[in-house]
Amino acid sequence: MASRVAILVSCALLLAATWQGAAAAPRLRVGYYQKKCPAAEYIVKGVVGKALQQNPGLGAGIIRMAFHDCFVQGCDASVLLDPTAANPRPEKLGAPNFPSLRGFEVIDDAKAALERFCPGVVSCADVIAFAARDSAYFLSNYRINYKIPSGRFDGSISLESDTLAFLPPPFFNHSQLVDSFKAKNMNEDDLVVLSGAHSIGVSHCSSFTDRLPPNPSTINPALSALLQSKCPVSPNFTNDPTVDQDMVTPNLLDNQYYKNIRKRNVLFTSDAALVTSPLSARKVYQNALFPEVWEKKFARAMVKMSAIELKTAANGEIRKNCRVVNN
Ligand code: HEM
Ligand SMILES: *[C@@H]1O[C@H](CO)[C@@H](O)[C@H](O)[C@H]1NC(C)=O
Ligand SMILES: *[C@@H]1O[C@H](CO)[C@@H](O)[C@H](O)[C@H]1NC(C)=O
Repeated sequence: MASRVAILVSCALLLAATWQGAAAAPRLRVGYYQKKCPAAEYIVKGVVGKALQQNPGLGAGIIRMAFHDCFVQGCDASVLLDPTAANPRPEKLGAPNFPSLRGFEVIDDAKAALERFCPGVVSCADVIAFAARDSAYFLSNYRINYKIPSGRFDGSISLESDTLAFLPPPFFNHSQLVDSFKAKNMNEDDLVVLSGAHSIGVSHCSSFTDRLPPNPSTINPALSALLQSKCPVSPNFTNDPTVDQDMVTPNLLDNQYYKNIRKRNVLFTSDAALVTSPLSARKVYQNALFPEVWEKKFARAMVKMSAIELKTAANGEIRKNCRVVNN
């Protein structure tokens, strides 16, 4: 009898704990929009595919956008909010985002198409997650193709000061990088695996001139010479050109990044730092050697990153326009 009571009590406790867990963070679900907007993921994929045909660099921008959104206030589309009189300095204007972050118009186009088909249903945070998944699919030549759970809500807090606090800068060393990922419940493997996104897209010269002469660095001398020729000395960066991050396959999301690291053909201290600790160095070596393993890990890590600090129906909303909060 006593044990029956004990079982009943522990069942009730378990149920309560489960229910509380669900209330604390919304449970994302693959196919969340199946009933409310069955075409949602196709609509986003169509818009993204068309945009990337014109300019594959936008796909790099969107994958980076997912990172910059999720590390600051969680995956809640806070990075998309434009300045307003009430909030003149949103995330978008933070140094890590402005003027380098790109792809906003693609998100706008996808959201506009969604609003025509099913108004008020699909969150901007989910649009970013879908668009990043689709960008990875197209830029990997269809090799990286993962299901992404959805059901996110959009936030209303967006502060420039948060970007510097939570987004690691390119001059971070290994332990600083590990710490900034750990602060978001992401581990060292996630750090190494997701940094592989630096196999696509560009960087402004200002992001790595700290590693050009007269400063010392571990950059491969041949790459250093090339970078010096492409980055004219202009101390205040009135003219700040961009260079490809991966000079071998600049528009292909692949494991070339890890081969580049091993040849010291990478732009940032944060890239080079991945071989300064034994564990990360081993992972760099494995990713360089086994592209299929890295592709699977990249997909898994993107899903994990896309679930950081989610808003709920209670503290979030489904924005009508991704650039402004609803009134
Ligand atoms: C580990 C710490 C990281 C640091 C310090 C870092 C830093 C940077 C910097 C400085 C740039 C160049 C910005 C510019 O000057 O235009 C860049 C570009 C980029 N980053 Fe990262 N990043 C990190 C992690 C990530 C992660 C986790 C992702 C995505 C999963 C990512 C995706 C990208 C992409 C795709 C670009 C190219 C963007 C474009 O072409 O528009 N990065 N990153
Ligand atoms: C990384 O940078 C931090 C902060 O500047 C410093 O305390 C630490 O010693 C550095 N670690 C290494 C391995 O250089
Ligand atoms: C920045 O440098 C350019 C020349 O490279 C110069 O014309 C301009 O006045 C400088 N601006 C500031 C704010 O120092």
